[in-house]
Amino acid sequence: MEISDQAPPWTTALITGASSGIGEALARNLAARGVHVIVTARRLPLLKKIQAEIIRAGGKATAVRLDVAKADATARTIVALDKKFGGIDLVIANAGVGIPRDLPHSWSWPAIRDATHINYAGALATITALLPSMVARGRGHVVAMSSLASYTALPDAAGYSSPKAGLSRFMECLALDLQQTGVAVTTVHVGFVATPIVAESTIPLPFLMPADKAADYMLRRILRRKREINFPKPMVFLVYLMAKLPFFAKKFLARKFTPQGN
Ligand SMILES: NC(=O)c1ccc[n+]([C@@H]2O[C@H](COP(=O)([O-])OP(=O)(O)OC[C@H]3O[C@@H](n4cnc5c(N)ncnc54)[C@H](OP(=O)(O)O)[C@@H]3O)[C@@H](O)[C@H]2O)c1
Repeated sequence: MEISDQAPPWTTALITGASSGIGEALARNLAARGVHVIVTARRLPLLKKIQAEIIRAGGKATAVRLDVAKADATARTIVALDKKFGGIDLVIANAGVGIPRDLPHSWSWPAIRDATHINYAGALATITALLPSMVARGRGHVVAMSSLASYTALPDAAGYSSPKAGLSRFMECLALDLQQTGVAVTTVHVGFVATPIVAESTIPLPFLMPADKAADYMLRRILRRKREINFPKPMVFLVYLMAKLPFFAKKFLARKFTPQGN
């Protein structure tokens, strides 16, 4: 039997950033596998539409408005949902934003503030809210949506790359700390996926994947309790090469390919 055909070990999954893109695709895929999905994000009308479509297709879904930039409130809401639904056994901290491009400097605080609060603090609040109950039950799975951009310094990307790098390191530490608890830890490092976050990108998007394909690729490996998921492979290889470059070469490429003084 294919791993993808097996019944998932989860009853209830909570996904942040499920109103579009990868989060929506993950929710639809999990619901089709029989998992009750709690879809969360800020845009409730989009979540309600996804909920209705999943239910119409015979699945189970609950839409909940959640702004992960409000980290303390996020943790409180998730703990309440865990109690209400009798134990969330899969959480995917997926909510994320890019860096606004209409500001003079991509490294200024206004440019990096949202990604810091949402992509880093919001993801940590989401995951840590469920850890005490998962550890007490001796089972559960926590997943963070990081990025291949976390692996190396990239020009014009300090505000995006650094919260993702922090998130990946947090998950790596967590995997050490939780190894005897029965709780699985997975970090996803993905390349370019065709979603609204990259829709207005001015940089090339090599090996761009559709969101439903990317979600299916991730879930097949999350089911196998993989510690890390890095894809698509050609992009992983490119990033690996970039990370290995001496710093003077990175500086040269940054000068050549990005606007001066940004
Ligand atoms: N697409 C790519 O190429 C790519 C590559 C590497 C990593 N990623 C990561 O994948 C994740 C999903 O992104 P995506 O590509 O699917 O883009 P997307 O379609 O723009 O999805 C982002 C999701 O995050 C939600 N979100 C944004 N701010 C939020 C907040 N304060 N609180 C709660 N939810 C919030 C959005 O919903 P609301 O606006 O309704 O809140 C939306 O559902 C992100 O973490 C992103 O960094 C994407």
